[in-house]
Amino acid sequence: MLDNKAILITGGTGSLGKALTSHILKKFPGIRKLIILSRDEQKQFQMAQEYPQSKYPQIRFLLGDVRDEARLVRAFQGVDYVIHAAAMKHVHLAEYNPDECIKTNIGGAQNVIHAALQTNVQGVVALSTDKACAPINLYGATKLTSDKLFVAANNIKGFNPIKFSVVRYGNVMGSNGSVIPFFINKKKEGKLPITDVSMTRFNISLQGGVDMVMHAMEHAWGGEIFIPKIPSYKITDVAQAVAPQCPIEVVGIRPGEKIHEEMITASDSFYTYDLGKYYTILPSVPNFKLEEFLNHFNAVKVEEGFNYNSGSNEDWETVDTLRSLIKEHVDTNFEV
Ligand SMILES: NC(=O)c1ccc[n+]([C@@H]2O[C@H](COP(=O)([O-])OP(=O)(O)OC[C@H]3O[C@@H](n4cnc5c(N)ncnc54)[C@H](OP(=O)(O)O)[C@@H]3O)[C@@H](O)[C@H]2O)c1
Repeated sequence: MLDNKAILITGGTGSLGKALTSHILKKFPGIRKLIILSRDEQKQFQMAQEYPQSKYPQIRFLLGDVRDEARLVRAFQGVDYVIHAAAMKHVHLAEYNPDECIKTNIGGAQNVIHAALQTNVQGVVALSTDKACAPINLYGATKLTSDKLFVAANNIKGFNPIKFSVVRYGNVMGSNGSVIPFFINKKKEGKLPITDVSMTRFNISLQGGVDMVMHAMEHAWGGEIFIPKIPSYKITDVAQAVAPQCPIEVVGIRPGEKIHEEMITASDSFYTYDLGKYYTILPSVPNFKLEEFLNHFNAVKVEEGFNYNSGSNEDWETVDTLRSLIKEHVDTNFEV
């Protein structure tokens, strides 16, 4: 599918960008080019050590900011697919620095769309988050706006066959700044801070996130929000899995945090379809024939009022499954 194609990942030095890079280079040795675009030269320098040109002649590192449309237009020349992973993603930092978050997450999304429409890009997959669903914090609100921009971009493309789609999922296990590495680190201090004992989150591995993005790149018809079916965990089970010997300290919910996350609200249910391994929310007016889409993917409309919430999920990680996942995906030396 990607033979002789060029792919550009915005935010390619981040957790997901690095996992995508490793996956793409392994699975698609015939790709023409894989371009990593991000701002910090140090992160690029370090990543370049892992991918020497002698062994990986397809990889290119471009410094650039998604706030800079002209830079993106230049970078997208000759690119077939763009994966848009660059974002500000820390809830509390977005609350404190709202202008910065808006410039990167909303302005960046607009620039990616405009640059893709000005070049010969065939497909754009944008990363989203459960926090974009009925958002209560600015991070989530900017990602919801970004989702809306990518979905609507399919309406302004004219005869350009480009497809824009979105992949939305929950906490990525072991990603930069996430709870499991945080707890592993706090374990050394003998106490684990927990915001609220009833808190739950959706859980996905980096590979799970990568797989959904690759699926979207291959199969999107344009305008879908792809949502993988994934388990939830209780935050107290994560604490128990990481450090059963440590007492927990309840520190209170932080600004902009929810007790449970949602990926599909009851209001989204009118446009949501079950495709087996994942759900997709379609635009209210898709620019393809809905009947053809439903037949092609064996898609079934969810019941009205259906919602997909980490607190009422049917699929749960346990302390034991969490321990094996931590060992497999976060820290191979992990011991309780
Ligand atoms: N991790 C999760 O749990 C999770 C869950 C759901 C959704 N997501 C979404 O998945 C995407 C990737 O997340 P991640 O965990 O990989 O994040 P990450 O590790 O923080 O990486 C973010 C990447 O974006 C780059 N970046 C930030 N601002 C930029 C800008 N203005 N211009 C260009 N590059 C910029 C960063 O590099 P520089 O700082 O060097 O520019 C870095 O490469 C995000 O869209 C996030 O919202 C993440």
